[in-house]
Formats: sequence, structure tokens, C-alpha cells
Amino acid sequence: MNQQLGFPYRSFRRQIIGVDCRVPTRRNLHAPYVHFDNAASTPALQPVVEQMADRLEWYSGVHRGTGHKSWQSSRAYDESHRVIGHFVGADLDRDTIILTKNTTEAINKLAYRFPWNPDDLVISTEMEHHSNDLPWRFRTRVQYVPVDENGHLEIAALRSMLRSAYPHARLLAVCGASNVTGHINDIHYLASLAHEYGALILVDAAQLVPHVPMDMKSHHDPGHIDFLAFSGHKIYAPFGCGALIGPREFFQRGNPDHTGGGTVSLVNQEQILWADLPDREEAGSPNVVGALMLADTLGYLQKLGINRMATYEDALTDYALSALATVPGLTIYGSQPRVGVISFNLAALAHSQLGNILCHEGGFGVRTGCFCAQAYVRKLLGIGSNLSLSDWASIDPAYWPGMVRISLAAYNTREEIDALVVLLQQITQNPGYYKRMYPISSNQQEFFPRQLKSTVGYV
Ligand code: ALA
Repeated sequence: MNQQLGFPYRSFRRQIIGVDCRVPTRRNLHAPYVHFDNAASTPALQPVVEQMADRLEWYSGVHRGTGHKSWQSSRAYDESHRVIGHFVGADLDRDTIILTKNTTEAINKLAYRFPWNPDDLVISTEMEHHSNDLPWRFRTRVQYVPVDENGHLEIAALRSMLRSAYPHARLLAVCGASNVTGHINDIHYLASLAHEYGALILVDAAQLVPHVPMDMKSHHDPGHIDFLAFSGHKIYAPFGCGALIGPREFFQRGNPDHTGGGTVSLVNQEQILWADLPDREEAGSPNVVGALMLADTLGYLQKLGINRMATYEDALTDYALSALATVPGLTIYGSQPRVGVISFNLAALAHSQLGNILCHEGGFGVRTGCFCAQAYVRKLLGIGSNLSLSDWASIDPAYWPGMVRISLAAYNTREEIDALVVLLQQITQNPGYYKRMYPISSNQQEFFPRQLKSTVGYV
């Protein structure tokens, strides 16, 4: 597959920090760790970290100092905005690239900065991560586009919501790819639909940008993405930097959400003249190192070929789906088109029990539960919304509904998927044994192997 697809995944894998880590399992003190939790966070790249050691020699505070180090750091920090914007096809003249901690902070900022009128509303969807739902609730009214049984947006419902709310639906806030099913939305079509009804669009691209070449498109294109948010820690740059990208004109109006050092050009006790963008939106000393590392990482990936990475990941995802389909009693949620995020359940085992079995028997790193997308997971599991939150809270957390999720990246391999499928097959052959070996923990929160009370102190 390596040669066929033209992506040198083996050499890419060698650049992944920690790819050869060993972890204790029940039968093997030094089992290879298989990181299948890339939707949560991807590991860092060795060449970028090495380059940063050199850059740190010239590190200094930005935009405030007089001195060569400060000038050099300021130039590099400013340039990092351009690299990050270029990577996603932003219009570097018309858009501003605001650096944030992560996608969540970016969306909260936009929710705050949007000039809502009392009758306005935002249209979000039932497939969103909580970060693209909760921030809106505190600023304006929210309506949710429903999803069908495959977890896909109901486009006819969206159109009718846009039509009936016109002209008050100001923004469509939608994910590019789901962190639960990996389902990819046709964001440019959704953008043209929103624009047809006078709304703007925000794409939460946290799960899209790391896996699919991104182009926000020209401001004149009906499919143009007005606002884009994403996180560095999901694209091999776990150094605390994410981005919110949107029209300069939009952020030139109103006051920033955070104010203080670096945000003003002139100030007296009565008046404030805000600094230029993006400085006015990046209060305080920024995360310079995080920004440089994100920009360097994106530059590295661009040289490697984002298209080739995406093609490799597609093939790996198809391979994983076919292999998982051979496991009796395994339900996979969602359907194509998708990035390599695959959530499933195995009959007879709770999700947290299965997740712990995969960890302690096979050294896999996965995620279990609702993945900060409770409404979507409930819908996919066919659970009605009539269970109140207090009824829900009275159930032991270990038995809360949920799923097990694996999420792939371009350094994962078929061999790793094969190992997962072999273990799942073993579990299905003797589920009773695994249920006995993995009882619920004393705090009723989790399932652990018999001899362990918790994972604390285990590694
Ligand atoms: N949003 C991240 C995930 O889905 C943390 O795991």
C-alpha cells in the first residue's frame, strides 16, 4: 500500500515522537502502544521539535521589545499567521488569522464577537461537538438541524429552517467532519445554502483540517467558508495553538472579548483606539512557541503532500471498516464519506469495559463514552431525549450510554488494525471471560482488570 499510494508512511511514522513506546498489558510488560486516539490529539513531529530547539535560541517576547531577538521573534510570529492561513486557503488580504488556544476558544470568541440582535439565531446541528453548541447558547437563540439514522444532516430540514428564520438566521455553525462518526459534511454546499438565505457559515474544522486538504475558497465563491476554526493539537502540533479565521472587516467592528496588553494602539481614561488585526484579538503575550510550531508543522505536512496523506488515510479507513465488519456482534456507527474516525460497540460489553479490555489486553489507546457530543451519540444509539439529565445522572457513569472510538492518522498501519481485529475476535469468542476479568471499579466509574483498582500508578 505504501508504494501504491505514493505516500511514504513508513518514513513519516519514523518522524512521530513516541511511536515506539511500550506499555504494560496483562500479559506483556512491554507491549507496543498503538495510538488510535488521534481525533483527541495527534503526537508531535521530531523534525519540528528539533527545529524549535534552534528557534528557541532566538526566542523573545513579541511586538513590545527593542532588540534583535524581539524583532526576529515578532517577524516569525507574524509570519506564522500567514503560513497557517495559507494552509487552509484563507484570503490573506481579506481574512484575519487569529491565534487561539484551540477550536473551543476560537468558537467561544466568535460567539462573543458576533453582533447579535434580539431576534437573531444561530443554526447549529445535532452532530456537533459540545464546543460548537454550548458557546452559542449563552449569546443567542440556537436551532439544531436534525440528523438521520446514519448520522447525516437532514438537508431539507436545514433549508426549511433557513427559509423560515430568514433574515434572522445569521450563522450556520457546523462541523467539517464529526468527531464521533468521522462523517464529512459537504461544507461548500452548506456554505452556498447558508449564503442563499443571507446567513454566514462557521466550519468547526477540528477533525477536517488534519485529514482533508482545506480550501476556504474565494470570498466571491458562493461556497466560501466565512469562518474557520481548528486546533494544532489534532494536526501534529500539540503546543497549545489553534486558529479562528474570518473576514478582517468583521473583526474590525466591536470590541475584543479579551482586552489588555497588546490589544490597543492608543488609550486614555475615556477612549480606546484598538490595535490592528489580529493583535486586538490576541490579548496578552501570545503563545509564540505554539504558533511557530504549528506553522512549522503545517509547512512540513505541506511538503509531504496533504493529498497523498489523505489518500493513504482513506485507504487505511476502508481497510479498517472492512476488517471490523468481520467481527461478529460489532456495530459501527455512521457511514461514508468519512475521515478515519470509527465508533463502534460490541454486543454484551459496556463501552468502557471494551475500551479497558483493548487497553489492558492489547496496549491500544482509544476513547470511550460520548466524545463531548452527547446529543449525537444518543441519537445514533436510538435513545430518546425523554430521559432527564437528573435521571441520567442517577445511573452509574460506567453504564452511561456511549461507544468505543478508534481514530486513525497517516502514520497508523494495517498491521495495527489487524491486531485490533484479532483481539476483538478473541473477545467475541469468550465474552463471559472478559466480563469476569473486567469488573466495575469500586467508584462505579470504570471497568478495570481484576488485579487493578485504577490505572493510577499502573504505568
Ligand atoms: N474533541 C476531541 C475528541 O473528540 C477531544 O476526542
